[in-house]
Amino acid sequence: MLTIALSKGRILDDTLPLLAAAGIEPTENPDKSRKLIIPTTQDDVRLLIVRATDVPTYVEHGAADVGVAGKDVLMEYGGQGIYEPLDLQIAKCKLMTAGKVGAPEPKGRLRVATKFVNVAKRYYAEQGRQVDIIKLYGSMELAPLVGLADKIIDVVDTGNTLRANGLEPQELIATISSRLIVNKASMKMQHARIQFLIDTLRGAIEARHQG
Ligand code: ATP
Ligand code: PRP
Repeated sequence: MLTIALSKGRILDDTLPLLAAAGIEPTENPDKSRKLIIPTTQDDVRLLIVRATDVPTYVEHGAADVGVAGKDVLMEYGGQGIYEPLDLQIAKCKLMTAGKVGAPEPKGRLRVATKFVNVAKRYYAEQGRQVDIIKLYGSMELAPLVGLADKIIDVVDTGNTLRANGLEPQELIATISSRLIVNKASMKMQHARIQFLIDTLRGAIEARHQG
């Protein structure tokens, strides 16, 4: 059995066409189904539906052989136990700092609200800047508006969410896309079929970008 961990929403929507190119299609619509294990048109391939931030955990522990996760999630997770063989070039965005439009830099310690706590610590440590990190689980854009933080670190695509809340993008931390990730033991034990999956997905991505 080959087990593939995916999250609902944009990663599922953008990954299914790539998997279809490899002959793997869910036998029921994962967006509509309440099931968390979804069989596919290949009897020995199944999909696990998990939270986006949980994908690396399932793969590192071998509960899934492969998965699809945003580079932001992988940077935050930081595990050593996962291969990252392929950039799927989907769910592209940027990981950025943002703050209130025109707000001056605070004099004292900077307060930064984010769900990317590890990324934030590393980023400001590299800059030698003292910061207080405030962990949030969502709606980060609210924090500077109500005085909880001076800045946020979040993913930005069109910038519409920042703009709608009177914030502006500031420093680029990383450009982000989703990656195929593979459990290290699975890569050895199921090498031929995982390598075939990687090659087929790479072909589908190249065909898409040429067409
Ligand atoms: P959860 O729903 O579990 O809290 P999430 O909200 O981060 O996680 P998604 O919104 O599905 O999950 O995002 C999945 C991935 O897609 C993110 O990790 C990021 O890499 C990328 N992403 C997030 N927002 C955008 C966006 N607006 N445009 C493009 N890609 C995005
Ligand atoms: C993501 C992210 C930002 C927004 C950025 O939210 O958390 O808020 O996209 O995109 P933009 O720059 O195009 O506005 P998403 O739409 O995924 O909603 P979520 O909070 O459910 O993740």
